[in-house]
Amino acid sequence: MHIQFSQSRPETARLLAQVVDKGKLPSSLEKAVSEGASAARFKGGAGQLFESFVERDGKVLRLALAGAGDRNDEARSANLEKAGAAIAGKYQSSGETEVVLDLADSGLSAEEAASVLLGLRLRNWRYDVYRTRMKDEQKISLETVTVINASDGSEAAWAEAAHLASGIEFTRELVTEPANIIYPESFVARCRERFEGTGAEIVVLGEAEMEKLGMGSLLGVGLGSERESQLLAIRWNGGGSEAPAAFVGKGVTFDTGGISIKPGPGMEDMKWDMGGGGAVAGAMLALVLRKAKANLVGVIGLVENMPDGKAQRPGDVVTSMSGQTIEVLNTDAEGRLVLADALHWTQEEFQPSRIVDFATLTGAIIISLGNEYAGVFSNNDELAGQLYEAGIATGDKNWRLPIGAAYDKLIDSPIADMKNIGGKAAGSITAAQFLQRFIANDTPWAHVDVAGMVWSDKPGQTWGKGATGYGVRLIDRFVADNLES
Ligand code: BES
Ligand code: MN
Ligand code: ZN
Repeated sequence: MHIQFSQSRPETARLLAQVVDKGKLPSSLEKAVSEGASAARFKGGAGQLFESFVERDGKVLRLALAGAGDRNDEARSANLEKAGAAIAGKYQSSGETEVVLDLADSGLSAEEAASVLLGLRLRNWRYDVYRTRMKDEQKISLETVTVINASDGSEAAWAEAAHLASGIEFTRELVTEPANIIYPESFVARCRERFEGTGAEIVVLGEAEMEKLGMGSLLGVGLGSERESQLLAIRWNGGGSEAPAAFVGKGVTFDTGGISIKPGPGMEDMKWDMGGGGAVAGAMLALVLRKAKANLVGVIGLVENMPDGKAQRPGDVVTSMSGQTIEVLNTDAEGRLVLADALHWTQEEFQPSRIVDFATLTGAIIISLGNEYAGVFSNNDELAGQLYEAGIATGDKNWRLPIGAAYDKLIDSPIADMKNIGGKAAGSITAAQFLQRFIANDTPWAHVDVAGMVWSDKPGQTWGKGATGYGVRLIDRFVADNLES
């Protein structure tokens, strides 16, 4: 989508849009429009949309009013995104190719205008590359946004936000691609392409290198797959000499469950079991494109979990790079096995100041929190608080759940140092306890279980059905507010 700024309304304009705060219909609106809006109960709630027609300079134009909610709402920027998204949602395939966003009466600051545009662009994103027989009226028609009467600095603010959009779109692309297209090596290849020339440094370990390092836990998951497992690190040194913050992602490009195979119906969803890794890759792209003033590293453990004659079996014992041994009681609890070695390696290699991991780790987190909040588990109150705040500000909401010694006991094994599953109870917590055993000492660490967040069965406010891009904004905001200031 092409977004441009202009001094005046283009001659060609047929569709206008305005952003309206809750209860603040601009007095400049034609009487028929403001009365029509009231009659339609349009109040300017976040994401609400009212369409009307107006006559301007002798021409009849479509006018959309998009609600941005309360000006003082703590979720202001998320609400502004919803306003932009409402416009894209309404006109994406309407036949209109251009929308003119008139900010004259909006009172929006440059940053607020950028949030509206972010929502507009994100909601307009769709991945149609495999749809070769689409009818014209199904295709996306909306291509251009022309912004007029924006406050000073809006164009520069958008240039910054556009990087965030690129990161989110990259995450969505990775998550949307099927597993015959995105597997560990092709995931790496796509990252190489996207980070080319950005100044980021890419490090990749293949199976031979991981074997040398003793990563028996990660490698065990990939044993049944024809695809070679990979460990990918994306480094960005935009800060001074301080230790980097590390973001670690689960990149299981397809999760059949392995020998503990999953039921057939719905298994196709497991193409997005790399959603945590996808979020890390997209966030790093956004941060690198906007040249974040911080030292950062994104690490993604990439594996395909398949059943096969060579696959690992329930009951197998593997030795992780940390030296700790694991009894693999269920080959479907594979994400934690991948992360165990990815987390340990990250600490050895980069001595990070803090670690946040993102993983579609458990179905149980969806039972707990549904599709509204990701689950956060942390050994550090400050870090958990920072993630919470970044979540509220961006709309990538997350909610902390407990961890502790009593839960940790549940993964003790009679034959190895630990087993990879607990009992029926507290499934997301025992998964987090497992990960914590691979965090050295007091390194501040948080685990974000995003199983309920990376994919949506229904259109949301800044996404259509499918990949949401969850996590990119969260990481970007967390870095901006806590590492760059
Ligand atoms: N990738 C799944 C978790 C998942 C389930 C993500 C549904 C998104 C939607 C994970 O690898 C898994 O299979 N977890 C098991 C753990 C169990 C075997 C202890 C689960 O949640 O059932
Ligand atoms: Mn699994
Ligand atoms: Zn999985």
